[in-house]
Amino acid sequence: MKTKIVLLGPPGAGKGTQAEILCDRLGFVSLSTGDMLREAVRNGTELGKKAKEYMDAGGLVPNDVIIGMMKEKIDGLDGAFLLDGFPRTIEQADALGEIIDVDMALNIDVPDEILVQRLTQRRSCPDCKAVYNLSNKPPKKEGICDKCGAQLYQRDDDKEETVKNRLDVYRKNTFPLIDYYQKKGKLVTVKGDEGSIEDIFKKIEGIVKN
Ligand code: AP5
Repeated sequence: MKTKIVLLGPPGAGKGTQAEILCDRLGFVSLSTGDMLREAVRNGTELGKKAKEYMDAGGLVPNDVIIGMMKEKIDGLDGAFLLDGFPRTIEQADALGEIIDVDMALNIDVPDEILVQRLTQRRSCPDCKAVYNLSNKPPKKEGICDKCGAQLYQRDDDKEETVKNRLDVYRKNTFPLIDYYQKKGKLVTVKGDEGSIEDIFKKIEGIVKN
């Protein structure tokens, strides 16, 4: 089984959704840089203050801030883990390679027009981080998280204009990581728009357990 996994893919590809299922069913621990940064913004920490303006604009938080934050977290890991949202630049990938040798970079590939629709319809849980979609994965009770009962919210960066900027930033800074991990023989790509969330999980499960 592959136990050290980097999740790649554009905003809205389903990284967080699949990470949640991999954690629930296969015992992975997921480290999501996006969740960590949003938590820091909510708590008003120094990190949160630095990160907020970049996140609100759909840009990337500077490499030194992210690499410092992740080094500490990865050092403390034990058992199977997923990195969701890290690395996002070649510089971050090189820094990760100095700490750990990952088993696989799993790239979830979805066309842009579907991504915009998914993100503008997404609702998120601030507490347990569960992810919903008003079109295809609504909560049982409107506005309330099925898992923990918290009030769901729409992320500030899920407004249409910001989503478009995030996609541009992804193409420019993160897309080159596909080639980076391909050259290392670590890349596996899954079509993230063919089938339901469960269908895509089944494909991923087969790859992870192989
Ligand atoms: P982050 O939180 O990592 O955002 P992201 O990468 O843009 O990814 P998303 O969380 O938007 O999408 P996802 O792929 O997880 O999709 P999801 O599963 O939710 O980062 C946010 C910001 O933080 C960045 O913009 C940046 O500023 C900063 N940041 C983070 N990491 C950084 C780093 N390393 N360096 C610098 N800055 C960093 O799914 C989306 C929707 O689609 C949901 O509604 C879901 O229900 C639905 N869905 C999922 N799968 C399917 C399916 N198969 N069919 C139909 N609907 C589906």
